[in-house]
Amino acid sequence: MYLLPGSLLLLIFSFSPRLSCLQLSKCNNTEVTLIRKTELLTSLTLSNCTLPHVENGFFVRFDHLLHLELQHSGLSDLDDFSLNGLTKLQYLSLSHNNLSSLRSWSSEPLGALTNLDLSHNMLSKLSVKSFEQYPQLQQLDLRYNRISQIENDSFDGLSHLKHLYLNGNQLAHIDGSFFRGLHRLSSLSLQHNRIEFIEMDSFESNTHLRSLRLDQNLLSSLQFLSQRGLARLVHLNLSSNLLQKLEPFVFSKNFELQDLDLSYNNITKLNKEALSGLDSLERLNISHNYVDKIYDESLDSLIALLQLDISFNLLTTLPDNLFHFNTQLEEIILANNKIEEISSQMMFNQNHLRYIKLSGNAISDAAFLDRLSPSVNRFTLYVDLSSNRLKSLNLSSLLHFRYINLADNNWSCNWLVANLVQKLPNSVNFARPWTVINNLSENTTNVEGIDCIEGGTNRSIILLDVSGVPQPKSDNCDCVVAYDETNPSPPPLTWPKIPTDRFDSRSVIIWMLVAIAIAFSGLRWLRRFVDRNEKRKLGQKMLHNVYVSKVQWQAIRTDPDQRS
Ligand SMILES: *[C@@H]1O[C@H](CO)[C@@H](O)[C@H](O)[C@H]1NC(C)=O
Ligand SMILES: *[C@@H]1O[C@H](CO)[C@@H](O)[C@H](O)[C@H]1NC(C)=O
Ligand SMILES: *[C@@H]1O[C@H](CO)[C@@H](O)[C@H](O)[C@H]1NC(C)=O
Ligand SMILES: *[C@@H]1O[C@H](CO)[C@@H](O)[C@H](O)[C@H]1NC(C)=O
Ligand SMILES: *[C@@H]1O[C@H](CO)[C@@H](O)[C@H](O)[C@H]1NC(C)=O
Ligand SMILES: *[C@@H]1O[C@H](CO)[C@@H](O)[C@H](O)[C@H]1NC(C)=O
Ligand SMILES: *[C@@H]1O[C@H](CO)[C@@H](O)[C@H](O)[C@H]1NC(C)=O
Ligand SMILES: *[C@@H]1O[C@H](CO)[C@@H](O)[C@H](O)[C@H]1NC(C)=O
Ligand SMILES: *[C@@H]1O[C@H](CO)[C@@H](O)[C@H](O)[C@H]1NC(C)=O
Ligand SMILES: *[C@@H]1O[C@H](CO)[C@@H](O)[C@H](O)[C@H]1NC(C)=O
Ligand SMILES: *[C@@H]1O[C@H](CO)[C@@H](O)[C@H](O)[C@H]1NC(C)=O
Ligand SMILES: *[C@@H]1O[C@H](CO)[C@@H](O)[C@H](O)[C@H]1NC(C)=O
Repeated sequence: MYLLPGSLLLLIFSFSPRLSCLQLSKCNNTEVTLIRKTELLTSLTLSNCTLPHVENGFFVRFDHLLHLELQHSGLSDLDDFSLNGLTKLQYLSLSHNNLSSLRSWSSEPLGALTNLDLSHNMLSKLSVKSFEQYPQLQQLDLRYNRISQIENDSFDGLSHLKHLYLNGNQLAHIDGSFFRGLHRLSSLSLQHNRIEFIEMDSFESNTHLRSLRLDQNLLSSLQFLSQRGLARLVHLNLSSNLLQKLEPFVFSKNFELQDLDLSYNNITKLNKEALSGLDSLERLNISHNYVDKIYDESLDSLIALLQLDISFNLLTTLPDNLFHFNTQLEEIILANNKIEEISSQMMFNQNHLRYIKLSGNAISDAAFLDRLSPSVNRFTLYVDLSSNRLKSLNLSSLLHFRYINLADNNWSCNWLVANLVQKLPNSVNFARPWTVINNLSENTTNVEGIDCIEGGTNRSIILLDVSGVPQPKSDNCDCVVAYDETNPSPPPLTWPKIPTDRFDSRSVIIWMLVAIAIAFSGLRWLRRFVDRNEKRKLGQKMLHNVYVSKVQWQAIRTDPDQRS
């Protein structure tokens, strides 16, 4: 409603007569001075107004305000005493304006102000005692300005400050003097700057610092981590920097660290002592680096580790006992490496596993899944083995997993068919549900099959249930796939026409599940090969070279009732 060009005022009086809010948009200076009953106002929001300049004493009439926002209004200049009188103000936001310099803007302390938001302005420098009139500040937001310079003692007097946001600025280095005196600082956001260098005593007085964000900077060394001020750090984000290696014992002073994000760096090796000292670490992320080697024992000190992400690296092998001491592990993410083998004892010590992600590797054998610790709860376990090179695996051990992704592997067609005649639970995923088509008039080309390899050719399998359709007489052929290329036998049923254009360079096999009822005693299978390349040579639109072979299939799971 207040967005209508004509109606600029919206007064919202809440039920309590003492609490009232006013929101104004698209206003100007004159309109603000016309506001009446200002003694009732506790919250004033001015947005998208035209207020380039605020003069001295502008807000004196609003001395009951607790909450003041002046945003998106082109504000570029505040007189030195323009905030005078706001003695009860707790929250002040001047974000999204054009402020280029920062002063105290008040002749006396704004003793109630705890939260100041100056984000998205044009500040380029913080000068001495900029904040001296805001002694109670707990949160200071200077995000997305152009700050490249912080003078000594800029934050002087902010002894209650807990959260400081300086992300999205142009800081190139952190000096020892920047954060001096911020004794209660608990979180500091410095991400998305251009920080190359951090002086050794930068955080010396910030002994309460729990969370430090340094991601998206240009750091290549982590020497600064060993200073006393960072001993109680819990969250550390170093993602998207230029780290190439982790020096031995570089984290040895950060024994309270729980979260460490090293993703998107240039780390190439994980050495034995690189992570030592991280006794409390629960989440480690080294994804998107160039790690091609993890040495024995490199994770040994991480006894509290719950989650490990080393995806998107260049690993080919892993030490057999890599996780030997990480007995609390719940999530292991090793996706998108070049890992060829997971040793079967590797995950034997993990009793709490819930998530194993190995997609996008070169694994050809999943026997390690049979050797998981007996106490792992398989009903809550999620395993992703998609995009590997598995040819076959022992499905019976996987049927009770919460979810297993087996899409996009190098399945042998024979293994696939033999196993998938059984009804698999939905938790076993081969890229698409293994739906049985039981309506022959359905457009079978709209059904995508499951890919497999047979005789060096990529194929796709579709399963058809023709139990409802009259059977052609079948001689009991001997389980041999026999088809005559030169003289294909005619299709036994009225087949749907298959425009094979969609199956580039691979063939389609259609497996026909003859009858679900017979499925448990012995199956009759028909399979058809449609070779697209041959068809193209013939230049025919219609499907002529259809090879049909009849295979009698032994049931892989015998129904006890029908067993004779
Ligand atoms: C402020 O806006 C009102 C209404 O839009 C207009 O009548 C008035 O002239 C404006 N004052 C200034 C100083 O621009
Ligand atoms: C004010 O302008 C900003 C950006 O121009 C826009 O995102 C926002 O929705 C506007 N707010 C109001 C209340 O008009
Ligand atoms: C803010 O400053 C920028 C650059 O100086 C200018 O382009 C823009 O028009 C100013 N915005 C307002 C609302 O004055
Ligand atoms: C800032 O402090 C540092 C160390 O305390 C000192 O060396 C430097 O001269 C000071 N800079 C200014 C401008 O006062
Ligand atoms: C670290 O920062 C990146 C952005 O630079 C973010 O995507 C990631 O979630 C952060 N990590 C943690 C653990 O918060
Ligand atoms: C990071 O490593 C990659 C591969 O080794 C290299 O191509 C790239 O130039 C490196 N980047 C930096 C900033 O060192
Ligand atoms: C690790 O970091 C990457 C990149 O920031 C992110 O995509 C991924 O989700 C993180 N892993 C975990 C387990 O949070
Ligand atoms: C498959 O797994 C089951 C259960 O884990 C086991 O009993 C069986 O011996 C395994 N079969 C093969 C061929 O390894
Ligand atoms: C897929 O399996 C076939 C044989 O079944 C083998 O010739 C081929 O090299 C395998 N491809 C990959 C990428 O492992
Ligand atoms: C089979 O599919 C066709 C076309 O999709 C549909 O018209 C017909 O009703 C279906 N028959 C049965 C028995 O589902
Ligand atoms: C079957 O699907 C193909 C490809 O989607 C389409 O071109 C064709 O018209 C469909 N045929 C029928 C009978 O729906
Ligand atoms: C089979 O498909 C894979 C992946 O799409 C491809 O890399 C490979 O070359 C194909 N092989 C043949 C024989 O077409």
